[in-house]
Amino acid sequence: MCGIVGYVGARPALDVVVEGLARLEYRGYDSAGVAVLADGRLATAKRAGKLVNLRNALEEEPPPAGTLGMGHTRWATHGAPNDRNAHPHTDCTGAVAVIHNGIIENFAALRSELEEGGHKLSSDTDTEAVAHLLENELRSSGDLAEAMRRVCRRLEGAFTLVAVHTGDPDLVVGARRNSPLVVGVGEGENFLASDVAAFIAHTRDAIELGQDQVVELRAGGVTVTDLDGRPAETTAYHVDWDVSAAEKGGFDYFMLKEIAEQPRAVADTLLGRIGADGRLTLDEMRIPDQELREVDKIIIVACGTSYHAGLIAKYAIEHWAGLPCEVELASEFRYRDPILSRSTLVIAISQSGETMDALMAVRHAREQHAKLLGICNVNGSTLPRECDGVLYTHAGPEIAVASTKAFLTQLVAVYLIALYLAQVRGTKWGDEVFAMVQLLAQMPDKVDKVLETMEPVRELARSLAGERCVLFLGRHVGFPVALEGALKLKELAYMHAEGFAAGELKHGPIALIEDGLPVVVVVPPRARDVLHDKIVSNIQEIRARGARTIVIAEEGDTSVEPYADTLISVPAVPTLLQPLVTTVPLQVFACELATAKGHDVDQPRNLAKSVTVE
Ligand code: M6R
Repeated sequence: MCGIVGYVGARPALDVVVEGLARLEYRGYDSAGVAVLADGRLATAKRAGKLVNLRNALEEEPPPAGTLGMGHTRWATHGAPNDRNAHPHTDCTGAVAVIHNGIIENFAALRSELEEGGHKLSSDTDTEAVAHLLENELRSSGDLAEAMRRVCRRLEGAFTLVAVHTGDPDLVVGARRNSPLVVGVGEGENFLASDVAAFIAHTRDAIELGQDQVVELRAGGVTVTDLDGRPAETTAYHVDWDVSAAEKGGFDYFMLKEIAEQPRAVADTLLGRIGADGRLTLDEMRIPDQELREVDKIIIVACGTSYHAGLIAKYAIEHWAGLPCEVELASEFRYRDPILSRSTLVIAISQSGETMDALMAVRHAREQHAKLLGICNVNGSTLPRECDGVLYTHAGPEIAVASTKAFLTQLVAVYLIALYLAQVRGTKWGDEVFAMVQLLAQMPDKVDKVLETMEPVRELARSLAGERCVLFLGRHVGFPVALEGALKLKELAYMHAEGFAAGELKHGPIALIEDGLPVVVVVPPRARDVLHDKIVSNIQEIRARGARTIVIAEEGDTSVEPYADTLISVPAVPTLLQPLVTTVPLQVFACELATAKGHDVDQPRNLAKSVTVE
C-alpha cells in the first residue's frame, strides 16, 4: 500500500522520485503526487489514477528543477481517490508538504482541534492534519525534525511520514511507526522509500529504521533519532539483488517472470541450509534447540497466500515433528482468546514482512510470552525484527501483486522448519531427515519440468475466459492448494472461484455443480491409496452431474483418465511436497485467464502488494 520516495542529492529530484514511484507501483495505489523544493519554493503536483496521469500533468506544467523532493502513490483509506485527496498535503502557508502511509487513528480529534485553531483543511484525509500540526510546531522551533518528533508523539495508529519545509531546503525528514520506511545511502545523495526497490538503481546500501524513529536526510549524511531526539540505533545492510531483479527482463508481466523464476527461487531458499553431514542448519532461527525441544504447540499466523502456506505447514509439522499445530488467519487471531504460553511457538509467515494483520498477531503473541519465528522474504522489513528468529525465503523481489514464487519458497521454508524440529526433537532419525532433504533438493528440477509443459494449461485458460465461476477441489495438502488456486483466480480474473476440501462436497458444495461448470481437482499421489481413490470417486460424482473436470494428477496416474475432461500431469513427488508442483499450473491458469480477459495481472484492481493497514 502507499509508496513513498524521498530524495536529496545532486540529481534532478523529480526524475529520481518519479522513477522510484514507478518501481513502487506494484504496491497498489489509486493516485500519485510529488513535491519538489527549488529556489526556496515548494512545488507540488498530484493526480488521481495511474502514474501516467501525474507524468502527463508534469509534462504540461513542469515544476522548477530542484535536487530535493518526494513522491507518493496513495492507496485510499480516508477520502476518495481523487486529485484533492492525493498526497502531498500542505499546511496553510504552503511551506510544509507531507506524504504518509498508514492510518492516523486520532485524526478526527486532531482535525477538530486544528479547525478550532483557525487552520483550513482542504482534503478528507487523515494526512493533512499532520501538515498543519507541523506548521504549528515550526512556529516555535523552526526545526523540521524536532517538529516531526513532537507531532509523532501526538499521533496514534500506523504511519510512515515524510516531510519537507521551505525553511530548510536541504533537508528531508521521515518518521515511522508500524509502517515501512528504509533509507538508501548513496554518495553525496540519500534516499527514503517504502522499500528498496525505489532506489535500487542508485544504491544497494540501506539502513532499516526502527519503531518511532525520525530520520533527517541531507545530501551529505543521515541522522536517526528516537522521538525524544536521542541518537537511535539502526541496522545497515547491503541488498543482495540488483536492479535487473526488479525489472521485467523481457516478460510482458512481472507475474510471468516470477512464475518462471520459481525453480531458482526454490533452489536459493534451500541453499546453505544443509550441512556437509546432511543435517539442517538454520542459522537465522536464533531460538536455541533446547527451547525448541520444550515447545508443545505451534500456531501459525498469516494472511492470504501466506495463510495457505501455513495450512500446508500444519501437515508437515504434525507429520514430521509430531507437534500439534493450529493455523489461524492473522486478522482473526488477536480478536479471540488464543491459548498461548512460553512453550508455544508462533510462526508468522509474510512475504513482505509488513502486513499489519500479521504484525499485530505477532505482537499479541509476544504479550502472551510465546516464542516467535518469522518466515519472510524482505530483508529489513518489520516482521523479522519483531520475532525471536527468522527464516528468510530467497525468492528475490516479488513485484506482481499475486504471490507466486514467494508462496513456493514459503513452502520450502515450512518444510525446512518442520524437518528441523524433527531433527532437534528426535521425532525422525537423522537419515530420515536427510532423505527428505534430498528429495527437497530435487524440487527445483521438478518445478522446472512443470513449467515446460504449461502450454495446454494456457490454452485451457483462454477457452474458459467467458466462464463466470470455477470451483477447486483438493484433499490433504491438496486442499490448501485448491484454496490458493481459487484465490489466484479471484484476485487476477475477478471471477467467482471457491476452493473446497473434496470430502466436504457432499455436505453442501455439490449443489453448485451444474452443466459445464469448470471444476479443477487436485489429486493426491497414488501412494496415498485411500485418499487418492476417494477423490477419484469425487471426480466421478461431479462429472455425473455435468461438471467439466480439470484434473491435476501425477504422471502415469491412468486411473483418473476416464473422468478427466482435461488432464494436467505433474511429476510424481512425495505427498507432502506435492503442493510445490500442483500449485504451478494453477498460477499459470489464473494468469493466462486474466490476461485473456484483458486484465493487468501485475496490478489487479483494489489490491495492494503489501497490506500495511488492518
Ligand atoms: O506479504 P504477505 O505475505 O504478508 O501478504 C499476505 C497477503 O496479502 C498476500 O499473500 C495476498 O493474499 C496475495 N496478493 C495473494 O496472491
